[in-house]
Parts: sequence; structure tokens; C-alpha cells
Amino acid sequence: MSAATLDPWSDEQGIARAGALFTATFGGAADGVWAAPGRVNLIGEHVDYNAGLCLPTALPHRTYAAVRARTDGQVRLVSAHLPDEPWTGRVADLAPGRALGWTAYAGGPAWVLADEGVPVTGFDAAIDSCVPFGAGLSSSAAIEGAVAVALAELAGLTLDEALAARLARICVRAENEVALAPTGGLDQAASLRAHADHGLLIDFVDESVRHVPLDLAAHDLQLLVIDTRAPHTLNDGQYAARRSDCDRAAALLGVRTLRQVEDLTDALSRLDDPVLVARVRHVVTEIERVRQVVALLAADRVRAIGPVLDASHASLRDDYQVTCPELDVSVEAARSAGALGARMTGGGFGGSAIALVPRGRVEAVAVAVQHAFTDRGWRSPVFLPAPAAAGAARVG
Ligand code: GLA
Repeated sequence: MSAATLDPWSDEQGIARAGALFTATFGGAADGVWAAPGRVNLIGEHVDYNAGLCLPTALPHRTYAAVRARTDGQVRLVSAHLPDEPWTGRVADLAPGRALGWTAYAGGPAWVLADEGVPVTGFDAAIDSCVPFGAGLSSSAAIEGAVAVALAELAGLTLDEALAARLARICVRAENEVALAPTGGLDQAASLRAHADHGLLIDFVDESVRHVPLDLAAHDLQLLVIDTRAPHTLNDGQYAARRSDCDRAAALLGVRTLRQVEDLTDALSRLDDPVLVARVRHVVTEIERVRQVVALLAADRVRAIGPVLDASHASLRDDYQVTCPELDVSVEAARSAGALGARMTGGGFGGSAIALVPRGRVEAVAVAVQHAFTDRGWRSPVFLPAPAAAGAARVG
């Protein structure tokens, strides 16, 4: 049995697809095509909204937006997934509480950009993507990022590190205020600010970043993404519930964010609620695991990060309680078949896992995970290659 792999599109394919949808829907040609990637998080899960540290990489899988500026204030949006239902309105119709469904992700950045004083005089956008939806791989941040970069450049701004950081913040506002998903900034930062062949170390105290060299191939390793295809959503209340646990614990401990907890043993002894004890233990130990991984990478001890990934998964399963049977089975089967470490990645409650695998074992690991799923009567998972790719940019 061979395992199903979802390869990324080349930029040529993405440009052709978004461009063809644009012409079929709106007529004429776009001014350009912009792309933004999905992401995986190597380590640092559910800590971004606790002012923690995260180490994501961008996927080679990208969302493509073919965009043409308008001068009459109109906005027209179309998605390849709903080609017969283009949306037409004005920037003001993309305000919080007005835009619904995918329009909120595609159009939300336009409203926030305008709200922040960047001129948005209307536009047409056609969007196509090879980032799987609902897989915990930030398909929503990829849509937001592609549109945001397009509109910023069409407004005359130049995409440099500072603009990428600003657009990441703008996309977080779009996600929180327009799409009403109370997420932190991990996904948008990864999609807009990542560099190829590097992990993006983000410090959410001030959103500063460091590009950490990540050359897994040099160590004969590969990061394999396992999309469990177990449904995953970030606006069904569970994600928000974890955030409010953290806020409550921080208030009880007298700190502004859990990042400020210095003595974990002391902090845990001051909390009565066992649920809050577990949540705080996850957040504080996970931030420490990010430091460990960064130190191991700096020392070129890449294989040694495997056990740290395993510890992260255990903490997310037992203390943070955001895994599910499909994620737990994925990581166990991957390890049994030779992965050096594995963990869920992203928000959890379904979605995807990652496994650090010696290159010669990739197929065996994928097949073992697939068997574990079919044995249980579950839908087959999908596997994605995940070399660290580049963040959002104009591609055509
Ligand atoms: C989702 C959110 C992020 C982050 C992760 C968990 O991906 O969008 O902000 O909180 O979950 O690390």
C-alpha cells in the first residue's frame, strides 16, 4: 500500500490557476499574482497568545491571489472552491460583523488596511490554493497573507521585513475582528515572515523574529506532515476556552502573561484548580522546549530534537488536552516505524501532526500511519512534504 502525498503546486501552476479563474470571472488580466504559504509549527504550541516563543516554518504549499486594483471602491472576490459564487461589495461591507465565511478571510485584510490608513480603492481578486482547508496548516492565514501583500504593494508599499511584520499584525486583526477566530499571531507571522531553509523564531513579547538555519536534508532527515483529516476548527469555542484558562491563571498568579512565570513549581503551588495547573505547566514547559530546540539546532544536534517533539505532544495531550485519537495514533505509529520524534502541530482538536524522519524511512512511516488508520476504520490520512519554504511574495 502506498500513502497519498499532497505535493505543492509550482508557482507557475498557481499563477496559471488563479489567473485563469480571474479572467473567467472578471474578464481581462490581473495586475499581478501574489502568494502566501501555509505553515507548520516545529515547536511552541499554544504559547503565542501567552507572549511565548514559537518556531514555525512556511510550507511550500501556497495560496495564490490574482489581483487587479480598481478605483471605484468596489470589491469583487472569487474562490476556486466556490467559482459560481463571486462576492461583490465595497470595503465597508468587509467590516467586522458584516463579512461571512471565506469572504472574511479574503476581504478582512482590505478592511483592516483601510482602517489603518493604507488606501484601498477597490479591487478584484481570484484565489486558488493548494493548502488543504481545515487541516491545521493555516489555510486561512495563507488567504489573508496573499491578499494583504497584494493590496499593500498595489497601494505603493514595498515588501520588506518591516512591512511583512506590519501585514502579519494586520492579518491577525482580520482574523480576530472580521473572521471572529480568536487566534494568536503564529500563523500570520509564519506565512508572511518566514525565510526558506530557516525556522522562524518568534518572540511574542514584542513580535521580534530571528531566522534560525534549518537544514534537515544535511542531516539526512525530513519533516513529514500528516494531515489526519479529522475535522479541525478554531472558532467552535474550544480554542477560546484554552485562551481564557490561560488568562484566568495569569490573573490568579498576578502576572500579565504566562511568559512572566519564572518559578514553575511555585506558580503551580499557588493554583488550586487542577485544570489551570495543567494548562500553566504546558505553557511554561513548552516555551522552555522551544529554547531547547533552538539550542540543539545551534549546536547542530538536529536528531536530538526528536525527544523534545515527543515531550511537546505528551504535554499537549495530557496537560493542554488539545489532541484527539487521530493525532495520538499518528504520532505513535510514526515513532514505531522509525520517526525520531513526532507531535501534533497547530491548534489541535484534529488537523495535522509532524514527524521528524530519517529520509530512508519516510515511506515506511507514512505507510505505518496509514495502516494504523485503516485498522481503526478511519479515513486515510494525507502526507505533505514540508521543506522550510519562503513567506509571502509577489510571484507573477
Ligand atoms: C492556531 C492559532 C495560532 C496558535 C496555534 C497553536 O494555529 O491560529 O495562533 O495559537 O493554533 O499554537
